[in-house]
Amino acid sequence: METGSGLTPDDSWLQAVGLSRYYIRGPQEVRALDGVDLDVSRGEFLALVGSSGSGKSTLLNLLAGLDTPTAGKILVDGEQLDTFSRKRLSRYRARQIGMVFQSFNLISHKTALENVETALYFNDTPKPERRKLATDMLTHLGLAERLDHRPADLSGGEQQRVALARALVKRPQILFADEPTGNLDRENTIQIAETLKSFNRDGITIVMVTHDGDLAESCATRIVRMDYGKIVSDTPAGAGK
Ligand SMILES: Nc1ncnc2c1ncn2[C@@H]1O[C@H](COP(=O)(O)OP(=O)(O)O)[C@@H](O)[C@H]1O
Ligand SMILES: [Mg+2]
Repeated sequence: METGSGLTPDDSWLQAVGLSRYYIRGPQEVRALDGVDLDVSRGEFLALVGSSGSGKSTLLNLLAGLDTPTAGKILVDGEQLDTFSRKRLSRYRARQIGMVFQSFNLISHKTALENVETALYFNDTPKPERRKLATDMLTHLGLAERLDHRPADLSGGEQQRVALARALVKRPQILFADEPTGNLDRENTIQIAETLKSFNRDGITIVMVTHDGDLAESCATRIVRMDYGKIVSDTPAGAGK
């Protein structure tokens, strides 16, 4: 099978097979995710699009190991994610993946530098090295003058760049981003998009949820559209055509 990006299945390392997540809400069963099959290949920039409530965040959280499926499975390099030991799962989350969210989720009483350093606590990085890596990443993202600022003293765009620095400082294999530009204006959206594209060119696989069709088309190599918990289309996008 060819993926949208033209990569072969050999490059595939994250796979969802018959993945479902149901919620019980009163007498009702909500099929947030309903039998999804998806292969993510190394080097892809996959955009997950679809209307609100279509199951995008549910899928992303499952792939990131933040939630467990009702049915189906996730394979990471052929290994089944829900059979990971607690230790193996925390290693997956601490080393292999990075996450960014629409609402930045920075720790409000810590500075930008401290927020980024936290990503390395769980990574066995020695303390002096943590500081250097965090400083370098923030500098790379244009925040050299903001290291000692707390989130409240940063603009939305700056906060999201700190969150990106926190996700990327550990050099994850894959970055999951859930509406990373949802709270940003156009200028900051473009800046975040350019940053994501450059990290993808450097080899980080990206799965990004967005309902911004222009953003998906300009950044991604592949667009997967969801509706009612199912994948309804899977096509190459601007950067992958
Ligand atoms: N914790 C939950 N409890 C009950 N229903 C949920 C929960 N999380 C999500 N849902 C429902 O699952 C569906 C998919 O949600 P979600 O994955 O957040 O969609 P999207 O990110 O595409 O907007 C929605 O109908 C939502 O209301
Ligand atoms: Mg969502």
